[in-house]
Amino acid sequence: MLNEITQLRTIIEQDLQALGVAPSKDHLEQFRLKHLVRKGTLAELTERLRDVPKEDKPAVGKELNVLKTLAESEFKRLSEEISVEAASASTLDLTLPGRRLRHAPKHPINQTLDEMLAIFNRMGFAIAEGPEIEDDLHNFEALNFPPDHPARDMQDTFFMEATNRDGSKRDDVLLRTHTSPVQVRLMQSQKPPIRAIMPGRVYRNEAISARSLAEFHQLEGLYVDKNVSLAELKGTLVSFAQQFYGPMLGGKELKYRFRPSFFPFTEPSAEMDITCFLCGGKGCRICKYAGWLEILGCGMVHPNVLKAGGIDPEEYSGFAWGMGIERVTLLRTGLDDIRLLYDNDVRILEQFA
Ligand code: DAH
Repeated sequence: MLNEITQLRTIIEQDLQALGVAPSKDHLEQFRLKHLVRKGTLAELTERLRDVPKEDKPAVGKELNVLKTLAESEFKRLSEEISVEAASASTLDLTLPGRRLRHAPKHPINQTLDEMLAIFNRMGFAIAEGPEIEDDLHNFEALNFPPDHPARDMQDTFFMEATNRDGSKRDDVLLRTHTSPVQVRLMQSQKPPIRAIMPGRVYRNEAISARSLAEFHQLEGLYVDKNVSLAELKGTLVSFAQQFYGPMLGGKELKYRFRPSFFPFTEPSAEMDITCFLCGGKGCRICKYAGWLEILGCGMVHPNVLKAGGIDPEEYSGFAWGMGIERVTLLRTGLDDIRLLYDNDVRILEQFA
């Protein structure tokens, strides 16, 4: 009897092998009719268990059961496989039109930046970039910030835990708070004339609200050469403003003004305002009823900054400016919450494609 069980096992295994991994329904049914039904091979052998001597019964019965379980579980597994395949076959409709590929439109922040870069490119400014993880030297010291300047305060600056290669701790590593350190890196790495714009992401330890984020973008500019004058600063920035903001004024002439201001890295320093392009200067909620919008900070590069960059201030002079990208992007798009620019909601992107 044990012999016969072994023979049947060989047959069943061969049949299973013939069925393969994805048998047809008919072949699987043939397998069932041959082995698993009441008149099938397994039932037949089970019937003959009666004639086996009592003392052999447990061993023979066990052997037969093992074979039965194998045949049944394999049958079940293959049946399930077939039904999954059938289900997916019925949902595959080859006549359906293909899905349209969605191509991502440019993010509004990049749209703003690209337009600005194009304008300055045409004026001969090259694009330069620097690291977002900076040190105190480039972010503050070389830019003529005094050691006790409030901007170095933990409240404003994200300082980072950092170690030197030898394991000693550093306390001067930070996320850059503005793009101005790229100016220093440029001056240290190339000789005048330098004429570059520096777009990038900056970080400040600020509470997140509809109006401010802890990370945002700036565009920095630097021009260093012999005899660079304040008049050139003015000419360059007015020309930029006319090209960039002019189209938003609906044909009206752009009005601007330079207000004296203070930055440690420029002397003299100024801020540039233009007529509010939303109310045309009459005063509205956006310009806080002033009629003016501040668009950038600028000035003549401080001699100490030139020196820190390895440039002789007796021989060279320069001007620089920096402006935020988010606020003008909000004004252009009409979005009223800065966080919308960072939510990664494709519906926002699609609106401004
Ligand atoms: N770094 C300044 C800021 O983050 C912006 C700025 C002002 C940059 C004047 C300049 C500049 O290069 O000359 O607010």
